[in-house]
Amino acid sequence: MKNIINKSTILVTGGAGFIGSYLVEELLSYNPKKIFVVDNLIRGTLDNIKGFIKTSKVDFIKDDIGNKNLMEQLISKSDYCFHLAALRLNACANDPKKAYEVMVKATFNLIEAAKKYKVKKIVYSSSASVYGLAGHFPTPEIEPPYDNKTIYGAAKLFGEQMFRSYHHMYGLDYVTLRYFNVYGPRMDTHGKYTEVMIKWLDRIREKKNPVINGDGSITMDFVYAADAAKANILALTSEISDDIFNIASGEETSLRKLLELLLRVNSSKLKSIFRPETMVNPVKRRWADISKAKKLLNFRPEVSLEEGLERLSSWYFRKKNDSNS
Ligand SMILES: NC(=O)c1ccc[n+]([C@@H]2O[C@H](COP(=O)([O-])OP(=O)(O)OC[C@H]3O[C@@H](n4cnc5c(N)ncnc54)[C@H](O)[C@@H]3O)[C@@H](O)[C@H]2O)c1
Repeated sequence: MKNIINKSTILVTGGAGFIGSYLVEELLSYNPKKIFVVDNLIRGTLDNIKGFIKTSKVDFIKDDIGNKNLMEQLISKSDYCFHLAALRLNACANDPKKAYEVMVKATFNLIEAAKKYKVKKIVYSSSASVYGLAGHFPTPEIEPPYDNKTIYGAAKLFGEQMFRSYHHMYGLDYVTLRYFNVYGPRMDTHGKYTEVMIKWLDRIREKKNPVINGDGSITMDFVYAADAAKANILALTSEISDDIFNIASGEETSLRKLLELLLRVNSSKLKSIFRPETMVNPVKRRWADISKAKKLLNFRPEVSLEEGLERLSSWYFRKKNDSNS
């Protein structure tokens, strides 16, 4: 891999968030000249970035990506950009106008500025949500996005398509990553899809049998956050442009299996309790075909689900203990 990051200036939006903070940590090992991290901390935290906020190579700017002047100024100084700042799926549904401002308008302005100031390449964080409930498993990138029924997914598709059109009209280089279920320490403890892990960890901590709503047959494709961060670096440093990649483990895991693993890594003898489903989840299956990312980006998820769940458990229990002491 050619180290184009070496001595480059890089803008990371959403860099105090879950995946973004792993990405900045990873970027630092490639000797950049400067990393601008823009995050309004609506979800991200100073705790996430405590490992690098004092590094002279990182400038943390607590601001909104909707601040057009600031963004233009930062983009004009940047060689490359990773665009991760976004609202969560639920937040988009709760406030569509805000979703438009953050996910659509600010993304458009970022793309415009990137064109104007000739940013060399952008890596855009999209999501498996664009597929809705996919029709093919494992799901390849060519799966049509017609089943998406969410504002979040619609906004991500807007971004994907704007990058694509700016590439074809103006030669703006970009790669889009569609993450599946990203998990690990620092993850959102209230997220729509992954919150189940946190609820179970709470039960394990309280020594109460964890609850599965439904029969536990819903599946997800989990990828560890540091692996998702590495995928960003691979996408930037590869020769590839104007393309989309699924980022996942390529393994389908049912909620039943997930809980089994979580209990095992915590050496817990608790048993799953099954209760009737409280909400109908329209996305009953997630399983990514990651062969394209493997072949073209040389992407290899390194952290197994077991190892990742162990790390997640230790982080979460420590966090809970700290907040109680
Ligand atoms: N975590 C997942 O499983 C997952 C799955 C699919 C896609 N994604 C996408 O990956 C990216 C990173 O996700 P994450 O899990 O790290 O989420 P996150 O919420 O932890 O990170 C997003 C960051 O963006 C910041 N942000 C939001 N609105 C902002 C604004 N207007 N101005 C400045 N900063 C703003 C938040 O404070 C947060 O730190 C997002 O684009 C998300 O949609 C994540």
